[in-house]
Amino acid sequence: MQTASPAFQKFCQTITDRYGIVITRDQQDILARYVPGRMSYFGYQYFEDYLTWLSGKASETEWEQYISLITNNETYFFREPNHFRILDTQILDELLKQANGKRKVRLWSCGCSSGEEPYSLAMLVRDKYGEAVLRDQFEILASDLDQKILQSARSALYGRNSFRVKEHNYILSHFENLPTGKYQLEEKIKSQVRFFRYNVCEDMDKIPELQEPVDLVFFRNVSIYFTAETLKKVHTRIQSKLVMNGYLFVASCETMLHDIGLLKLTDHHGAFVFKKALSSNQPETVKYQPASVIPPKTDRVESPAAVPQSYEALLKHIRGVMDRRQATPSVQTAPTRKPAESELAETVTAAIRQNQEQLTDLAVLRLHEDLFEETLALLRSKKDPTLNDLSIMAYANLSLSRFDEAMELTDRMKKQYEFSPVGYLMEGLIHKLQSKTDLAIAAFRRSIYLDLNFATPHFHLGTIYQQTGKLPMAINEFELTLRLIDKNKKQLVIFNKPDVSLDYIQYVVQRLLKTIQQDYSGRVS
Ligand SMILES: C[S@@+](CC[C@H](N)C(=O)[O-])C[C@H]1O[C@@H](n2cnc3c(N)ncnc32)[C@H](O)[C@@H]1O
Repeated sequence: MQTASPAFQKFCQTITDRYGIVITRDQQDILARYVPGRMSYFGYQYFEDYLTWLSGKASETEWEQYISLITNNETYFFREPNHFRILDTQILDELLKQANGKRKVRLWSCGCSSGEEPYSLAMLVRDKYGEAVLRDQFEILASDLDQKILQSARSALYGRNSFRVKEHNYILSHFENLPTGKYQLEEKIKSQVRFFRYNVCEDMDKIPELQEPVDLVFFRNVSIYFTAETLKKVHTRIQSKLVMNGYLFVASCETMLHDIGLLKLTDHHGAFVFKKALSSNQPETVKYQPASVIPPKTDRVESPAAVPQSYEALLKHIRGVMDRRQATPSVQTAPTRKPAESELAETVTAAIRQNQEQLTDLAVLRLHEDLFEETLALLRSKKDPTLNDLSIMAYANLSLSRFDEAMELTDRMKKQYEFSPVGYLMEGLIHKLQSKTDLAIAAFRRSIYLDLNFATPHFHLGTIYQQTGKLPMAINEFELTLRLIDKNKKQLVIFNKPDVSLDYIQYVVQRLLKTIQQDYSGRVS
């Protein structure tokens, strides 16, 4: 199967359009290996014919065969214990009070994978309020795109890897340790979670479980491969389903990615949570300056004047202007001195430079507005892109999930600016977004090696260590990030969103650090 063929590329694009998942080159290879078997099973000789059937008459299940191959299902019980702690100490009480016994409080784990997340919610409610309240006053919903993983979630049978967080005695009280070494969740909890298939890229109208509003949504670690455009649409859908004063939880290292203005970002004792709130009844929102990290937003940047882009064309243009002036000298003024060639060249170079800088300014504006294609078009027209231009282009490609193009630009940065840490930072980000953790760590380390004072790779290393449960290493990296930001306020930092201020980043990292320190002390004590 030729992955480069237009038909195969159309197949991948259809998956992205339908499910939001952008297919990396490695995933293309995985899918391509699987296609011939499916084609022969259904009696197709040509891929084009199979694709026509797949896009038309085939059932959803046929697409789902492919989805199962490429989704990341990593999860475990009580992941990010801090989220469960604030539910326990504050939010569940608040939601119960708001429902006032007139309706059930509906908690929804969206992108639930093998079920550890919704079952953690159910165990928490059960341990806090007892069995009757869990049954009569709460409804726990859990959805995923992947039917196979939902099947595994319904069986509620787990291996040791699902129990990475040690707090609570939940293993002893809610699971039976089977002779096979697996752990079976007790029926009383299992029966309280309602699993169903839902693709977040689709409308909710036809989903029976989502006809009523929900009080709280866990949407954690699902959208990492989504484009900015898809993420916005999904956010709109989710927030429309939330009751007023309802909550949206995302993974803490995804907070900035999700801060797109639809819901209020609120700070609950160190954990960031989004809340649907009326302006008259706003919760205390996170305070930060909307200053920019990559050049700031300005009200208006004029388009570059219609000056020819190439040196030769510009030289010709200026000569033409000069010659026309010479041809009509004014009698009152002294004849204009014909400028020396070097003077002309200087004028031309200055004009081109100014024009080129304006292109970068415009591109940054487009980037701030998530207009990634326009950002790229503007910078592609530059004669000699700078390191900053290349990193903006790589970032725009990354935002469009074009990993190969982003990597090509990164290679160019590393070759042209071999002593700059920015190329390796970008490389790390590309690997990180594709879950190639080891390669990402190596690239971030290399970036640090080239500039020991560069905060950004430390931040990303911190998030990787946090995600993989290496808390002391995460603490170390976040502490270093804070120290370095403090030391050098002006450095260029490219985080998930480019238009966030250093103050905001500092605030977020401080909170992340506090959360992890709490988690870690909880674990070792
Ligand atoms: C890494 S797991 C996250 C599990 C859990 N939320 C957690 O944080 O531990 C991501 C899950 O999102 C699901 N997913 C990916 N794209 C989706 C989509 N378009 N609609 C619904 N679920 C999706 C995947 O099938 C996978 O099970």
